[in-house]
Amino acid sequence: MQTEMIQKLVNEARSVMENAYVPYSHFQVGAAILMNDQRIIAGVNVENVSFGATNCAERTAIFTSVAQGYPAKSIKAIAVAAKTKGFITPCSICRQVMVEMCDPETPVYLTRNDGEIFETTVKALVPFAFDKLDV
Ligand code: THU
Repeated sequence: MQTEMIQKLVNEARSVMENAYVPYSHFQVGAAILMNDQRIIAGVNVENVSFGATNCAERTAIFTSVAQGYPAKSIKAIAVAAKTKGFITPCSICRQVMVEMCDPETPVYLTRNDGEIFETTVKALVPFAFDKLDV
């Protein structure tokens, strides 16, 4: 993908991160997904006093795209941001949601606080994915 578009997506993930609702972990995460019509949809983590009710930033963004009417496999790229020293990496529940909603080759841009970007793919994040019932 074009460098400017990657940077734009990452910038979106970094800025939306400030809206995270994180009274328990204080760990802000932002995600931005590029749709096949070039629109960008952002999401943050939203925590709950019942911790299991927490929604990660990646799923917030992906579920928002579904609510906005995008069919599965409309996502062209994903960026994730957090104020971490190392690269933020999606939890396994979010990875499974990516498997459902993205092409395996979809690029995923992991970032860290100093602005560095690490590119991976949905397939690399989830080898041997459970992606159908008729195995
Ligand atoms: N979290 C995300 O939103 N995305 C990730 O990639 C990793 C973890 C959230 C969940 C929880 O609100 C907080 O970060 C700490 O686990």
